[in-house]
Amino acid sequence: LASKVEVHCLIDSTNNFLLRRLPDHIKQGQVCIAEHQSAGRGRRGKEWVSPFGSHVYMSMYWYLEQGMSAAMGLSVVAAIAISDAIESLYQIKVQLKWPNDIYINEKKLAGILIDLEGQALEPSHCVIGLGVNVSMPEQASSKIDQPWTDLQTHVSTPVDRNILIAEIISKLTERLHEHQEHGIVKMLDQWFKLDLYLNKPVKLVAGEKVTYGLCRGINTQGALLLEVERQIKPVYGGEVSLRKC
Ligand code: BTN
Repeated sequence: LASKVEVHCLIDSTNNFLLRRLPDHIKQGQVCIAEHQSAGRGRRGKEWVSPFGSHVYMSMYWYLEQGMSAAMGLSVVAAIAISDAIESLYQIKVQLKWPNDIYINEKKLAGILIDLEGQALEPSHCVIGLGVNVSMPEQASSKIDQPWTDLQTHVSTPVDRNILIAEIISKLTERLHEHQEHGIVKMLDQWFKLDLYLNKPVKLVAGEKVTYGLCRGINTQGALLLEVERQIKPVYGGEVSLRKC
């Protein structure tokens, strides 16, 4: 299991908290959890709305021995770990949207934010941040600019956040060790089964650049496979987003 778990009532961002501990004051698998974030961060510079006592906001530190080149796979590892946890506790199959969103019925349930520090070919420090909607309070929902859902909508008994967090930590640690040994090869099957946009027409937005193509899943590095004019090309992560068209 995780080496150290810290729970805070209020914090700016659980990712920032662990990043401030780098490089010497942190252990492999260390976890930070908060009831409330005052500056929760989403991808592409967006705010992650983080109301008190409603959801899961957590981050885990992971030292990536394989170096930065393996970092792309971490999004896949984290998404698969959340899907494992939700399936084992509630028997719900989620959908995964590359690079790192979790959906149920095409509405966003959870997001992943990975912060990296290190050089291209050297081992690197990674903070894997996870935000899972558990029970959305009325006032918070109006601040979210995309279709969302929460776990409680799909589970008939009260969702216990402690049990959920423990299961996520356990599955994430397991999958991170697997990734260390074998990369994401053994996770690809599961990704293809849950891929929200597999074989669908999509629009890839990277800043001003928009590319239209067919989503063909992901490769062993965790890159998106996009088919454009009958050619399948890998798209590596970064500040990109994928939409249905
Ligand atoms: C996204 O989908 O845009 C990613 C959202 C990630 C949110 C989590 S909540 C815990 C951790 N701390 C943060 O500031 N962000 C991540």
